[in-house]
Amino acid sequence: MQKPKFKDQRPNSKRMRFDIITIFPEFFGEAFDHGIIRRARAAGLVEVEAHDLRSWTSDKHRMVDDRPFGGGDGMVLKPEPIFAAVEALTGSSRREDYNPRTRVVLLSPQGKVLTQAMASEFVQDTEHLVLICGRYEGVDERVADALVTDEISIGDYILSGGEPAALVLVDAITRLLPGALGSETSALNESFSAGLLDCPQYTRPPEFKGMQVPDVLLGGNHAEIARWRREAALDKTARNRPDLLKKN
Ligand SMILES: C[S@@+](CC[C@H](N)C(=O)[O-])C[C@H]1O[C@@H](n2cnc3c(N)ncnc32)[C@H](O)[C@@H]1O
Repeated sequence: MQKPKFKDQRPNSKRMRFDIITIFPEFFGEAFDHGIIRRARAAGLVEVEAHDLRSWTSDKHRMVDDRPFGGGDGMVLKPEPIFAAVEALTGSSRREDYNPRTRVVLLSPQGKVLTQAMASEFVQDTEHLVLICGRYEGVDERVADALVTDEISIGDYILSGGEPAALVLVDAITRLLPGALGSETSALNESFSAGLLDCPQYTRPPEFKGMQVPDVLLGGNHAEIARWRREAALDKTARNRPDLLKKN
């Protein structure tokens, strides 16, 4: 058995390593070199690496896909290279044997739809995430059966590959790591954290093209500002996401 690439050394720390398995590692290019993720990487809170699935093939054509059994359109990602990749990155190709703070995620439209609560749970429970990006018609189901701890969708639509979904997951989790945002409280005030959308925000100038910033925000009365923000958040949630209010 190969040695895992990443070892959990601090069970209670909030550092995170992401290993992304993809047939297009170049897709991620400079994606992690900006803003909050760049700063989190520089501060040692986050490590991200994209791995070429083809490097775990053993045939001369480095094949990662094949035709679906039973017929039908398109190709399916083969299980062998994915099992080899996960074993190399976690130390096992059986999910029962992973380190308890390691999770293996398959990005899939058939997964549970990602929420802020799920991102937050990953931050609490996990130090190492292996993200498997599908392509074509998808991934041989034995990967989900034996390797995957979480099947995650980023919404009810079909992407061409799991790579944009992996980016979304890395971003959503990284910004919740303690110390990743400029202010420790800013994640608490964002949409979904309190079951509501965030309130509208304004900056200078106070009047633009005839549109005024609400007076209350210019007045400096913090209690009134807090009340206005709460009401504005409720109003925006009722207009754009009434489903969130029903959950409360
Ligand atoms: C074209 S899709 C395959 C769709 C699959 N045949 C189906 O209908 O469920 C190819 C890959 O893109 C990724 N993908 C597509 N939509 C996604 C979504 N909403 N969330 C996460 N990953 C997605 C998955 O990794 C998937 O294996």
